[in-house]
Amino acid sequence: MARYARRLDSIPPYLFGEIARLKAKAISEGRDLIDFGIGDPDQPTPQPIIERLARAANDPKTHRYDESDYGWLPFIEAASDWCRRRFGLELDASKGEVIEVIGSKEALAHLAWAYIDPGDICLVPDPGYTVYKVNAAMAGGTPYAMPLLAQNDFLPDLSAIPSEVARRAKLMYINYPNNPTAATATPEFFAEVASFARENDIIVCHDAAYSEVSFGGYRAPSFLEAPGAKEVGIEIHSLSKTYNMTGWRIGFAAGNADVLRGLSKIKSNVDSKQFPAIAEAAAYALLHVDGAPETLSIYQTRRDIVVDGLNSLGWSLPKTKATLYVWVPLPPAYTSAEFAKVLLERAGVLVVPGLQYGEYGEGYVRFSLTVEGDRGGERVAEAIERIRQNVEIRW
Ligand SMILES: Cc1ncc(COP(=O)(O)O)c(C=O)c1O
Repeated sequence: MARYARRLDSIPPYLFGEIARLKAKAISEGRDLIDFGIGDPDQPTPQPIIERLARAANDPKTHRYDESDYGWLPFIEAASDWCRRRFGLELDASKGEVIEVIGSKEALAHLAWAYIDPGDICLVPDPGYTVYKVNAAMAGGTPYAMPLLAQNDFLPDLSAIPSEVARRAKLMYINYPNNPTAATATPEFFAEVASFARENDIIVCHDAAYSEVSFGGYRAPSFLEAPGAKEVGIEIHSLSKTYNMTGWRIGFAAGNADVLRGLSKIKSNVDSKQFPAIAEAAAYALLHVDGAPETLSIYQTRRDIVVDGLNSLGWSLPKTKATLYVWVPLPPAYTSAEFAKVLLERAGVLVVPGLQYGEYGEGYVRFSLTVEGDRGGERVAEAIERIRQNVEIRW
């Protein structure tokens, strides 16, 4: 067998093989699982976007390489326009302040490859989307965990980062609204991040994948609105969760043109951009489709059932303002993997153990509100009932 490149050794082992095994077993036995696992919208992409794709795919102009510098022009212009309408940002698409990316995951990963050298520190949230730390490590860097703790509203405490670490740090990832904690950030926090980054010469990457998944009138701010933010960083947006387009693979990175140049440089040697018909349909979405409000109200129904249901079992969870997730602290008797196993085996309910997102995720499990096809929340309610009847919660 050929040996993998050594950099793949820095990918952590999949800790939850046991849960995956139990899931496969339950499915093979024909058990009825209610799946709160992966955060992949279960509702379809809005029909007008699909129709725009069909039309664009019939135009031979979209069948060739996109040889532009920054991405399909109608798309990056639409992205700039969207940022102006949504956040009041002025971003010049003709000057490389907005670039097209093949979904935010691609951009988050390649950013580490563009900026992290062996020996560099990369500041990553913990718990957090694992792509940040895995790619920083594969690029030869050292991920440094910024704990997201309940007592700090799941915001990193920048004053707790030792000055030696801050000095060696090259890149910082942050993500609000946050996966997995569902926390939101204030404009004041973003201003603090921008000034910390300026003082320590750190590039900031704000992952805004969930900026449009919010409830009850909450509107997430942009990092780029903070004073000085555009001097130190970028923000990565995705159409995946906003328009139920996870399979389409499109998003954009916006902000500091120098930082984006590094990302573009690596991308131009790795990919040849997204299918232009997808970029064309995505431009249409940004200009003419106001998110997926019906999907948000479905998530909100499910969120209410999960939060009210767990609270009736002894939790005291707040109603989350944003994201697809409910981050649930556990009774002290369980580790996150044990609790996930108990829910799966006794109630047929699948959740993700918090440890999967980093060591500070221990003591929690994540419920994703993307339960397949459950428009009215009946399956979510059934999951709560099954937990009530089959799982003993000891506080
Ligand atoms: C925090 C976060 N960022 C980025 C992504 C990736 O999204 P995309 O589909 O744009 O690659 C996800 C996906 O779940 C995520 O949770």
